[in-house]
Amino acid sequence: MPYEFQTIIEPFRIHSVEPLRLTSPEQRHAAMAEAGFNLFNLRADDVLIDLLTDSGTGAMSRDQWAAIQHGDESYAGSPSWFRFEAAVKDLFPFRHVIPTHQGRAAEKILFTAIGGPGRVVPSNTHFDTTRANVEASGAEAVDLVIAEGLDPRSLHPFKGNMDLEALDRLLRERGADVPVVMVTVTNNSGGGQPVSLANLRAVSALCHSYGVPLFLDACRFAENAWFIHEREEGQSERDVADIVRDMARLADGMTMSAKKDPFGNIGGWLALNDDGLAERCRNLLILTEGFPTYGGLAGRDLEALAQGLSEAVSHDYLRYRIRSTTYLGEALDRAGVPVVLPIGGHAVYLDARALLPHVEPLTYPGQALAVALYEAGGVRSVEIGTVMFGRHPDGSEHPAPLELVRLAIPRRTYTQSHIDYVIEVVTAVARDADRLGGYRMVYEPPALRHFTARFEPLD
Ligand code: F0G
Repeated sequence: MPYEFQTIIEPFRIHSVEPLRLTSPEQRHAAMAEAGFNLFNLRADDVLIDLLTDSGTGAMSRDQWAAIQHGDESYAGSPSWFRFEAAVKDLFPFRHVIPTHQGRAAEKILFTAIGGPGRVVPSNTHFDTTRANVEASGAEAVDLVIAEGLDPRSLHPFKGNMDLEALDRLLRERGADVPVVMVTVTNNSGGGQPVSLANLRAVSALCHSYGVPLFLDACRFAENAWFIHEREEGQSERDVADIVRDMARLADGMTMSAKKDPFGNIGGWLALNDDGLAERCRNLLILTEGFPTYGGLAGRDLEALAQGLSEAVSHDYLRYRIRSTTYLGEALDRAGVPVVLPIGGHAVYLDARALLPHVEPLTYPGQALAVALYEAGGVRSVEIGTVMFGRHPDGSEHPAPLELVRLAIPRRTYTQSHIDYVIEVVTAVARDADRLGGYRMVYEPPALRHFTARFEPLD
């Protein structure tokens, strides 16, 4: 009988290391005050464990670094471009692939082409840059996630699913104003929750019955496909790459930040089937990003991404990836810290509204918690709540539907002992959460305010 071992280990060993800098609580408090209590304003050297984002922060593999040496920097028609295009089309068989420097550049091009005043763009939940690019075009961004997706304690296996009835209603009433329906996989702003194939199939059928195209915001496509593999009936024997192809075939196009699942430090693309729209988008690309065979990227970046795409759908990697995020979330849940359940793919989301009920929503409980985690243990997280989503195009401010603090896990970067330390820090801060007070925003930019806002503690 072969032995069966339970421990899920990192399916890699460390080849090159980066130092981390230890700081004292006094140093961190001074750094935080200097940064206007906005974690985006910190110097990264002052952060011990950086869980601000999983975007561009993953460790590249030996084979990606090797691929970089093959980078061909020809302005037009580089072999690196053809390798990149083939790798994208292998998973996402769209007719046109338009490379961009990151996801929001693809969004900007798409919504410049098809957005505009009077238009409305539904999604399960738009991420911040997607919403901002929709709104910057003059269009309206609408979130239509299922009700369970807004309940942090609901154990629904696919909390990223679109509310089909709500989508049907919107398409019936305003179909002519809807240039595209977006589905974000996984649903980042809603807790990193997956969307099922069945839901995607139904959304696709609904969109097409109204003649409206469906686009995926596909940054975390491989993690979403792994959840489908693990949770959806009839999918557990399938190759994740095939599940990804199924997801793509249901859509008419995609926007992509390759800084997430494809292990890029930079990169993205827009892909689509519509020839006319692709031509308009390419012309916009040339204005701001670059020639269509490199977009905003160097040939070496295209090579790293082509290799990264093949690593992103490895079952051993995805099993480890999702299990290690769950490990952090389950430990916090066991310690009584309110977290969004089930645990998402790329991040654990703390429920700041549940943890800090004494902090008024418009004095930013999520921000208060994020600052406290940094000051206590040098852990940098990000608020995904009223600071990020509370200001509306009409100038009003309302509490966001969910008041979350996200601990995003960079890919292949931190070890289990780093995560054990994070568990200790979060548990300690949560135990004393009643001592935390709110914040006042003293500087606010006109859009995407969370990146550069400045705060002062209220007391
Ligand atoms: N869509 C989603 C779902 C995202 O999570 C992001 C970025 C983007 C689009 C934009 O991509 O950064 O390459 O321009 N999310 C990062 C995050 C920044 O921290 O979640 P980008």
